[in-house]
Amino acid sequence: MSEIKVEKAKTLKEKPDFSKLGFGKYFTDHMFTAQFNEKDGWHDLKITPFGYIPIHPASTVLHYGAEIFEGMKAYKTVDGYQMFRPFENLARMNNSAERLCLPAIPEDMWINALTELINLDYDWIPDLTGTSLYIRPFMFGNDETLGVHAVHNATFVIILSPVGNYYAEGLNPVKISIENHDVRAVRGGTGYAKCGGNYAASLRAGKRAEEKGISQVLWLDGVERKYIEEVGSMNVMFKINGEIVTPELTGSVLPGITRKSCIELLKEKGYKVSERLISVEELGKAAESGALEEAWGTGTAAVVSPIGHLYYEGKDYVVSGNKIGKLTQELYDELTGIQWGRLPDKHGWCYKVKI
Ligand code: COI
Repeated sequence: MSEIKVEKAKTLKEKPDFSKLGFGKYFTDHMFTAQFNEKDGWHDLKITPFGYIPIHPASTVLHYGAEIFEGMKAYKTVDGYQMFRPFENLARMNNSAERLCLPAIPEDMWINALTELINLDYDWIPDLTGTSLYIRPFMFGNDETLGVHAVHNATFVIILSPVGNYYAEGLNPVKISIENHDVRAVRGGTGYAKCGGNYAASLRAGKRAEEKGISQVLWLDGVERKYIEEVGSMNVMFKINGEIVTPELTGSVLPGITRKSCIELLKEKGYKVSERLISVEELGKAAESGALEEAWGTGTAAVVSPIGHLYYEGKDYVVSGNKIGKLTQELYDELTGIQWGRLPDKHGWCYKVKI
């Protein structure tokens, strides 16, 4: 792997108030970029002051949406910081790359770029409860031609953003409406890949929901519009009659790393966890009969977010009395305890870096 050239910012930005971060509004002093072409592979690896990226007007990404990304977090520890399962994100990024005909990222380039960049911007890792440094690696096809072909040139970038809660509600339950018109993804499409296009397709329904004061939409499968899939910014889990049910990874659902971690934690706690198809009808009946005890979302940005209301075809299903459920709280505490280094990392999930 070629060396990372470092050009440090001459003046450092003023840091925001870490108690009022919100999500994705502030960016650190530096960013990482690398270029790919078929002759040289990955080259021109550099860390530079955070800034605009020059782009050719015919670049593939601008016309045909060849873009993939990841979301990860770094947490401040007493002697440095730790990232949560960064190699899981690399595996998913490379799966997404394969789907969109973008180049894979080698493991050493991934981890060296992340650690060198975060080491340089270490002071941006917030240390207040509930905060972290959100890491956004992304890659786009960068051929300078309008032909529709698999990509030959690509750009990989990592930017960093100190964040608080994803939802304005914080750890209070969010309102979610089950979308019965637009679909996010179909099997055989790009649903399992973390690509910008999936999110672009979700914006119209998200906007309509927001106009009604609803945080986000829960997608149904694109074929029958019957089975629960995911929220887009998070996977979903339900506690029904004591059992945990979460949509199976059918190909149109994002394989969440927080989802996977929560399943492992829940099984260790002795819960039966079923990854299966769950129809909107089954969910509605469970809510009406009281069998639906808790509902929550899982995601890097969303962490573990309780769901208090589910809206579907004019009905409002209130979950857990619109309060955070006992298990949801336990799961949040356990996961964030590991991520923030307050609880032992029995699974070896955290990648620790000393400063
Ligand atoms: C994440 O949880 O990291 C995501 O990518 C979700 C989102 C903010 C799009």
